[in-house]
Amino acid sequence: MNLKDLFSKKKSDPHCSVVIVAAGSGERMGADKVFLDLAGVPVLARTLKPFQDSECVDEIVIVTRTEKLSEVSDLCSSNGFTKVSKVVSGGATRTESALAGVSEVGPKTKLIAIHDAARPFITKELISSLVSCADQFMAAVPAVRCADTIRIVDDEGVITGDTDRNYAVQIQTPQIFDADIIKGALSYAVTHERSLTDDSSAAKMMGVKVHTVSGDPDNIKLTVPDDLIKGAAILKSRGES
Ligand code: CTP
Ligand code: MG
Repeated sequence: MNLKDLFSKKKSDPHCSVVIVAAGSGERMGADKVFLDLAGVPVLARTLKPFQDSECVDEIVIVTRTEKLSEVSDLCSSNGFTKVSKVVSGGATRTESALAGVSEVGPKTKLIAIHDAARPFITKELISSLVSCADQFMAAVPAVRCADTIRIVDDEGVITGDTDRNYAVQIQTPQIFDADIIKGALSYAVTHERSLTDDSSAAKMMGVKVHTVSGDPDNIKLTVPDDLIKGAAILKSRGES
């Protein structure tokens, strides 16, 4: 932590560690999306910067594929990401990777934020509102309202169920939790081979009330090649390209 961060940090701030999950294979993108170049900066470097700069964040653990461990460490040192304490190997599923990361945070950690490396448009403002909410309620996730009608379909694509759009939200990351709760929930999920698409599902499964804060429509996950066009537009709107 540099001197400026030390003085701006309130005594009562909870010790917050961030786990960046970057161990996927990018099958739908057709490339290792974490290292894709976005206007001259690798996706992972863009993702890490707001966490490095946030006064709410004390430590960052990165989870990556074993063959990328040294490439990720080099990216951190060359970009001055001093909060990165560990770079560790992930697992076969996102849940296993998240568990690998939360198992490596320092002993002082009170809150753990888990964030997709593939969401490079996260802002310091959203991180800070999530930390405040998680500090109060133990579990906080960003949510954005759905513009489209949401229906449930079967394997043939036939509609089988409804949802009330007024109560439907899209969930993003970072998701922030009390450290003991999320460690226990992810261990349970992995041990019982539960297939989950996010970490709040693991917390909810344990009976934890997960609170939402207003997410950011620009906080997209780079999933398919078309998302790179959306990403370029977001950078342009921010004057970063
Ligand atoms: N992830 C991970 N470990 C895995 C799978 C995913 O750390 N075994 C990470 C990805 O690197 C990504 C985030 O979880 O940052 C969200 O996953 P997703 O968008 O599904 O990325 P990939 O799994 O890489 O993509 P795909 O599913 O298309 O292969
Ligand atoms: Mg995946």
